[in-house]
Amino acid sequence: QSKHLFPYNIVLIGFMGTGKSAVGKQLSQWLGMPWTDTDRMVEERARMTIGEIFEIYGEKYFRELEKAVVQDLQHGDHMIISCGGGVILKGENVEALKKKGKLVLLQAGADTIYHRIKGDFSRPLLKDDMSITQITKILDERRQRYLKAAELVIDTENKSIDEVCHEII
Ligand code: S3P
Repeated sequence: QSKHLFPYNIVLIGFMGTGKSAVGKQLSQWLGMPWTDTDRMVEERARMTIGEIFEIYGEKYFRELEKAVVQDLQHGDHMIISCGGGVILKGENVEALKKKGKLVLLQAGADTIYHRIKGDFSRPLLKDDMSITQITKILDERRQRYLKAAELVIDTENKSIDEVCHEII
């Protein structure tokens, strides 16, 4: 029998600002499982920030790096993995992630997302147009993919990080 409470990776997906990093770090502490973040792994590989990668090489190149990172995640690591918001854009990523863990979708409405991330310009997709309209547009484009990929859907509206973690557990 496994000594782990969750003998698999927990994979957090969802739009920017839905709390994937904050919830991932908290879950990691509570469950004693290591935490990792695909964005940080991409940055380590490229030795550049996400912003620099988008600016110098473009989104397509970023998506290739992200795909390579996802492919390299190990099944048996018992980790909490916070994914970049666009990881679900490639079907191969979703397939690979499903083999490696339980996919938990964190959700929030465009207004809430806007208020959580406004003023943070580290996200290239919203750098030029940080608005509720732009967030709504990208959310609408992605909604079906997020829902289709998810094995568990958690609404984060009006909830603390602790409450979201409790719900996931
Ligand atoms: C992206 C989300 C970002 C990062 C990149 C692209 C997206 O991650 O991967 O800027 O396409 O939604 P976070 O969701 O952690 O902000």
